[in-house]
Parts: sequence; structure tokens; C-alpha cells
Amino acid sequence: TISLLMQLDILVLLERVFTISVLRETECFLCFFSRSFYTKVSDLHSELYKGPAGMANPLVAFTLIKRLHSEWLNVVYSNEALENAQGRYEEEEPELPKLEDLQGAAKGLMRLQDVYALQVSSLARGRFQRVADGEAVDVYMPAVSIPLSGDDCFLVGKVAYEQEDYYHSVQWLEESVRLFRGTRGEWSPENEGTLEDALDHLAFSHFKTGNVSHALSLSQELLHYDPMNGRVLQNVEKYEKLLVAAGPPRGDGLRRPTSTYLRTRETYERLCQTQGSQPMHFKNPRLFCDYFTNDNPALLLMPVRREVLSLQPFAVLYHDFITDVEVEDVKSLAQPGLRRSVVAAGEKQATADYRISKSAWLKGSSFSIVGKLDQRISMLTGLDVKHPYGEYLQVVNYGIGGHYEPHFDHATSPSSPVFKLKTGNRVATFMIYLSPVEAGGSTAFIYANFSVPVVEKAAIFWWNLHRNGEGNIDTLHAGCPVLIGDKWVANKWIHEFGQEFLRRCSLNPEE
Ligand SMILES: *[C@@H]1O[C@H](CO)[C@@H](O)[C@H](O)[C@H]1NC(C)=O
Ligand SMILES: *[C@@H]1O[C@H](CO)[C@@H](O)[C@H](O)[C@H]1NC(C)=O
Repeated sequence: TISLLMQLDILVLLERVFTISVLRETECFLCFFSRSFYTKVSDLHSELYKGPAGMANPLVAFTLIKRLHSEWLNVVYSNEALENAQGRYEEEEPELPKLEDLQGAAKGLMRLQDVYALQVSSLARGRFQRVADGEAVDVYMPAVSIPLSGDDCFLVGKVAYEQEDYYHSVQWLEESVRLFRGTRGEWSPENEGTLEDALDHLAFSHFKTGNVSHALSLSQELLHYDPMNGRVLQNVEKYEKLLVAAGPPRGDGLRRPTSTYLRTRETYERLCQTQGSQPMHFKNPRLFCDYFTNDNPALLLMPVRREVLSLQPFAVLYHDFITDVEVEDVKSLAQPGLRRSVVAAGEKQATADYRISKSAWLKGSSFSIVGKLDQRISMLTGLDVKHPYGEYLQVVNYGIGGHYEPHFDHATSPSSPVFKLKTGNRVATFMIYLSPVEAGGSTAFIYANFSVPVVEKAAIFWWNLHRNGEGNIDTLHAGCPVLIGDKWVANKWIHEFGQEFLRRCSLNPEE
């Protein structure tokens, strides 16, 4: 009966979130359970990444994945379920939220915390705020605030803890302890953690960051609940000795773990935080907007609104490049082929950090939507973008905290897979924003010191290479994490070959 109750609980949850009417099927609960319930849960899971309104909020998505993950395990591995659904789950399992998904979602939340300088105590209350001049200001105001539970925060803290990232574990576990204390340590069946677990992990995290006095007081609190715990008794003794030996506490505080992108991190985060608003950058009198036809007869009647974003590197934004109907066509063509994005790692293609984005490649024929887009890109850029002079259209969907760390689009090494097409390097990038994003998700040009917000249906174009064929290092760019929303983009990478008469070479390294 416990598992039956949990099934009902999930039904209620599903109903509440997606207002699907399922209860009429409960007459044959287990048949229903093993078939349509399964379908619904797996649909729901893929919906998480397709992003109906509620799922745009990373806190909602996180809590839902968490509930589905833990409760689903209880449900699926109950005896009734096993008897009624032999074999079914094994073949379908990859569609269900796994521990990896949950950990990926937790890491996504921590990435949002870092990049947008969000306060963990606000996140726990369902708010997106950062501290400026001692006051919490809203970075984004969600229509509905979904507060996190002590167990939700515990899970995020534990993911950090397991990576020995005590900077994040201290902050999340402090919220967890605070919330668990508030519920006076009551245990609810869906919880994985308890107040004791949170105290234990938090005490050790404090110890690791040099805050021995706090490690001691938390351990003493823990002993109050678990007086005979030998390990904790030993720790208390150890902390007391350390405090006597060390004298006054070192006040070095919490420091963020170092990352591979340390050199560019500060600029990257500043550019992401401005979310595309940078009046200073656009004061440059050489930047302008116009109606652009590229002297193409087909564009004379319908010029494109062009915004020149930067001269070095040359980057422009074309407004209303794609229509709503075309966006839907591209997304539905891409949907079945979406795979976790891979990065070239040595010889092998390795999947990047879990669920950061999913992507699909669309081949075009001259009749298809993809062919039409190719043609339009050609008209605007004056370049030949037909395969193999242009790569197939890549459609990318970003998940919770989905981002793309600073990188170049062009190859920087002769062994790069970019050269597989044998049409030279990627001379230019044409990136179409397929969806609006409520907050975050800008494209940040790190060295060029500007970012481009997501403008629904617009496209950014920039040259990756100088006219002499050398890579332009000012094109180093990143996709900022999506704070709220469901970000879709389509990329067209245009290669050097095929453009010999369309973009003249030059030996001047500045061009
Ligand atoms: C130890 O942690 C507590 C709680 O977070 C904090 O108030 C205190 O300032 C910290 N002490 C040091 C020395 O970092
Ligand atoms: C980048 O831009 C910001 C604001 O637009 C400005 O304050 C800063 O000095 C710029 N940095 C560089 C290196 O130009």
C-alpha cells in the first residue's frame, strides 16, 4: 500500500503540474500503471527539456526531476510493478530521470548561482536575487516562487560535497540545516536526507574550509540527536584540540573552486550578468542599424533590419530572420534527433557535462525549410552555404543552467574534426535564436567585451577568420547559462572553400 500511495502522490503531482486527467484510468490501476502511467512519466521527462511554461524555471525543473527520480525508484521497484511490467522498464529506462540527471540539475543550479551571483538563501525561497551594496536585488522575478525543501538543498549540497567542492556545499547545506531545523527534523518519506545527515556533511565542509569552531558547534548539535555516534565524538575531540592549538580562527572564508576558465571567468560572468545591456559598448559611433538588402534583388522589397554589433570582430544581428512557423518546423524536425552535445576531446567525441545541451543536425534539400534558410543565409552573407561549403544546420536545445563555455567556432588545431569536410576552416558563423529566453542565455564575446541578448527569431553573424585565413582570437565567445526559459538556437557554420570569389583574401592581419 505504501507504493500505491506513492503512485497516487505522483499522479497528484503530475495533475497539478500538467493538468492531465488520468484518474479515470485507475479502475485497473496496475495495468494503467505499467502502460499509460509509464508513458506519461516518460513524456513528462522529455517535456522537461522541451520546456512548457513551468519547466522554464530551473527550481521547478529541479524539484520535479528530484521527485520523479526518488519516487519513481520506489514505485518502479515495488513488487507489484515488477510483476506487472516485466522487462518493460529495462528497455525504456534511459528515458527516465536518473541519478545523473538529478546531479546534472544540481550542478546546473550551482552554475546559475555562480554566473549570476545568486544568493543561495534566496534560491531556497524560490527567488532569483543577488546582493548589491548589501541589499538583495531581484535578477528575475518568477510569477510563482517555488521554495526548496531542506532535502532539496541537501541534495545540491551533497553533489558539491562529493566533488570536494566545499565552497558550494557549505552554502547549500547551511540552507538545508536551516530548513530541516524549521521542520524540527521531521522525516518525510520522499526525503533522502535528514537533519543529522545535513549537520554531518555541513560540519565536515566547515572543517575543510578552515572554520573549525563552526564545525565543532554543528558536531555538538549532531551529538544531541545521536549521542552515541563514535565518529562524531572523535571529531568533536579533534576539533576541540585544533581550536586550542590554532588560537584565533583564520578568517580566509569561502573561496570558489578554481576552474579551467579562470582567466576568462570574471569577464564571462560580467558579460552574462549584464544580459546584453551595455550602453558603453554601443556608444561607439561606428556601430549602426540599417535596413539591409546586400544589393540582392530578392531582399529589395523586404530589407532586413540589421544591427552592427561589433567591428572587431565584425558581428551583426539580423532581426526577424526566421518566422514563427519556420521555427516550429525546425524544432519539430530536430526533436527526434536530439542528442547530448559532444565536444571533441582528443581522439574521441566525449559528452560534455551532463545535459548542458542537446543537439541535432538537419540536412537540407532545396525544397525543405532548411533549404529555404540556407538560401536566406546566402542572400544576407553573400556566401555559398551549401554542403560541404556550409555544415548541416545544427539545432541546439539547452537544459537547466545550459551553457557553452568560452570557445572558438573555428578550428585551432590541424587535427580538429572541423577539417573532416575538407573545405577548410569555419570562416563564419550564422546563429539563429529560435526561442525567446526570459532571463540569461546571452552570447558573450569575452575578448571583444560585449554580449548579445537572446532576441527571438533574430540571427547573429560573425567572421571567425581574418581575411588572411588566420583565426580571429577576438571571436572567443560563450553561451551564458539559461536562467529562466528554454533556449533553442540553430547554427550554420560556413567554411572557407566555396567563398574564394565571395570574400576576398587579404594579407593584412587586421582585416
Ligand atoms: C564560520 O561559519 C559561520 C557560519 O557560516 C560564520 O558565521 C563564521 O563567520 C565562519 N567563521 C569563519 C572564521 O569563517
Ligand atoms: C568592458 O566593458 C565594460 C563596460 O561596458 C567596461 O567597464 C570595461 O572597462 C571594458 N573592459 C575592457 C577591457 O575594455
